[in-house]
Amino acid sequence: MAHFYFKGDELYCEDVPVREIVEKFGTPVYIYSKAQLVENFTILKTLFPDFKIFYALKANSNPSILKILSELGAGADTVSAGEIFIALASGFKPEVISFAGVGKYAEEIKFAIEKEILALNIESEQEIFIVNEIAKSLGKKANVLIRINPDIDAQTHPYISTGIKTSKFGIDPDEAIDIFKKSLTLSNVNLFGIHTHIGSQIVDVEPFVETANFLVMFIEKLEKIGVKITHIDFGGGLGVKYKNVITHNELPFEEDDDKEINLKLFAEQISPLLKKTGCEIILEPGRFIIANAGILVGKVLYTKKSKVKNFVVADIAMTELIRPVLYGAYHQVVPVEIKTNEIEIADIVGPVCETSDFIARDRKILKLSPGDLIAVMTAGAYGFVASSNYNSRLRPAEVLIEGKNYYLIRKRETFDDLLSKTTLAKT
Ligand code: LLP
Repeated sequence: MAHFYFKGDELYCEDVPVREIVEKFGTPVYIYSKAQLVENFTILKTLFPDFKIFYALKANSNPSILKILSELGAGADTVSAGEIFIALASGFKPEVISFAGVGKYAEEIKFAIEKEILALNIESEQEIFIVNEIAKSLGKKANVLIRINPDIDAQTHPYISTGIKTSKFGIDPDEAIDIFKKSLTLSNVNLFGIHTHIGSQIVDVEPFVETANFLVMFIEKLEKIGVKITHIDFGGGLGVKYKNVITHNELPFEEDDDKEINLKLFAEQISPLLKKTGCEIILEPGRFIIANAGILVGKVLYTKKSKVKNFVVADIAMTELIRPVLYGAYHQVVPVEIKTNEIEIADIVGPVCETSDFIARDRKILKLSPGDLIAVMTAGAYGFVASSNYNSRLRPAEVLIEGKNYYLIRKRETFDDLLSKTTLAKT
């Protein structure tokens, strides 16, 4: 069931008109559906009953979202001490927290070891030695996985493709075997498994199958040298749909439709391969869990025409949602109230002083006028978390909807916030 939908001509989230949220909290505002979030997590739990699901916090780390997920039984995939801190504060237990990333600071490693999280995912040979030293100084043993770069093309945007050999992520498989051997001499690390994450927004099952086959072979190689592992962290990357995600008779249809990952096929093809290793399997999706559970709502400020283009200038910009600018990503944009069937082609742009500041380009949309509210769909993942204060803009509010109820889960920033971390130099 869709939890963002048109009731007549009005956009709703669960039982609440989106307009009502705007009247109460203003724009720009991120709005999340708890029902959609729960549904997405439940789909994964049902399809992968034997796997652990570690939610990738980087997609959206609002504590209210995290609390719901931890109560549903999710673990947390983190990439900084900050994320570990938020995960712990939001109810995740240390034993279900993993920590990846190519550039962990010594302080972060120390923090992770002290908190006794499940695993630090090692991304270079140097790192495992540093982890060993830090663990020794703390009188502890650090649990680590090795992140392997399998050199598999995830067929996604190059900026979010992480498993090819030109990418900075993970360790070359041969070198990883070597590190496994060396780790036996390290007294303060417990190397108990492997990790791969080949990229994000992957919509085909094949690269995942290739990765699973690669891991099975890699584990056989490890066994030949007498190493037995117990855990595989298979990463995230499950791709979602962005086009034609919400329908109404008057809304233009995007001819060049897109697809999402076929999860049933994924489960059928991947699960048996990974299970046969006898290891505990972790999946770490972010986008799949939260992307379609969130929208970004803004207001049209002006409409204007140049000789060659129509512009809709709104109060949402690259500062609130950077994905269109950074990856040329597509997000469906719809009016919160459908008032016309007149279609035009326009750029939807924000107030930021950059030509690259756009939410949609050359987009077929229903004609908009100043004051109209617009919703950017599928904005729950990599939306708020990547927002910024560029141009001294205030970060938006976030609201969570549950049935008829709604909760402000992050206040809109104020002018005071813009100065709160600065001090005036007495020059
Ligand atoms: N695990 C690791 C180690 C990762 O690096 C990532 C994402 C994930 C899991 C979760 O991937 P997901 O299931 O969400 O695809 N900002 C980009 C996406 C960057 C993804 C970074 N790593 C975007 O807006 O498309």
